[in-house]
Amino acid sequence: MPKAIKVKNQWQIAYENELNQEEEMDFIKLAKQRYSCRKYKSTVVEEEKLNQVLEAGRIAPSAVNYQPWIFVVVKDKNLEQLRTCYHRDWFDTAPVYIVLCANHKQSWKRYDKKDHADIDVSIAADHITLAATSLGLASCWVCNFDKDKVIETLNLTSDYEPVVILSLGYPDDKVNENRHDKKRKTLEEIVFYEKL
Ligand SMILES: Cc1cc2nc3c(=O)[nH]c(=O)nc-3n(C[C@H](O)[C@H](O)[C@H](O)COP(=O)(O)O)c2cc1C
Repeated sequence: MPKAIKVKNQWQIAYENELNQEEEMDFIKLAKQRYSCRKYKSTVVEEEKLNQVLEAGRIAPSAVNYQPWIFVVVKDKNLEQLRTCYHRDWFDTAPVYIVLCANHKQSWKRYDKKDHADIDVSIAADHITLAATSLGLASCWVCNFDKDKVIETLNLTSDYEPVVILSLGYPDDKVNENRHDKKRKTLEEIVFYEKL
C-alpha cells in the first residue's frame, strides 16, 4: 500500500504564515505595552489575576531547572513596612508588591563559579511583568531598595537575597507604546553577526 502523502496547498501555507506573523505581532505588542508604571489606582488586584501572574513566574525557565527563587507577596499587614524600604511617593501607590528572592545555595554555578541566581530570578520577574500586562495590570521593577530593611521586613533567612521588588496594580497613567523608537538602542548598535 503506498503511503498517503500529505501535501500542503498554497492556501494552507499562506494561512499558516499569516498566523505565525499574527502570533509574533501579538508578542511584540505585549512587550511594548509593558512599561514601568509609577502611578497606580487603589483598585484591589483580584486574587485570580494575582495567582495567574504568580503562575507565570513559577513556570519560568532556570539554569538546570533549579528554580532558585521564592516570591513573597506583600499586600496586607506588611504593606506599610515594605514601603519604607524604597522612598518614592509613587511606590506607595501600588496595592501589591512581589518580592523575588534568590536562593544562592540552590542556584547553578558554572565551572568558573558564576552564580546564575540573578539571571533565573530576572527571567521569572520578566514572566510576571508580561503576564501582568496581558491581564491589564501594570508593574515596575525596583532594585534600588534598602536590602537590609527588606530582609528584616520579610523575615528572610540567610539563604535568601531579595533581588527585585515588583510593584503591581492597575495603572493610573497611560503607556507610550512608541517610546522604544527613541528610548532603546537600535538593532544596528547592538546586533552582530558571527563576530564583533
Ligand atoms: C534590573 C532593573 C532594575 C530597576 N530598578 C528600578 C528602580 O529601582 N526604580 C525605578 O523606578 N525603576 C527601576 N527600573 C525600571 C527601569 O528604569 C525601566 O525599566 C527602564 O527605564 C525602561 O523603561 P520601561 O520599563 O518603561 O520600558 C529597573 C529596571 C530593571 C530592569
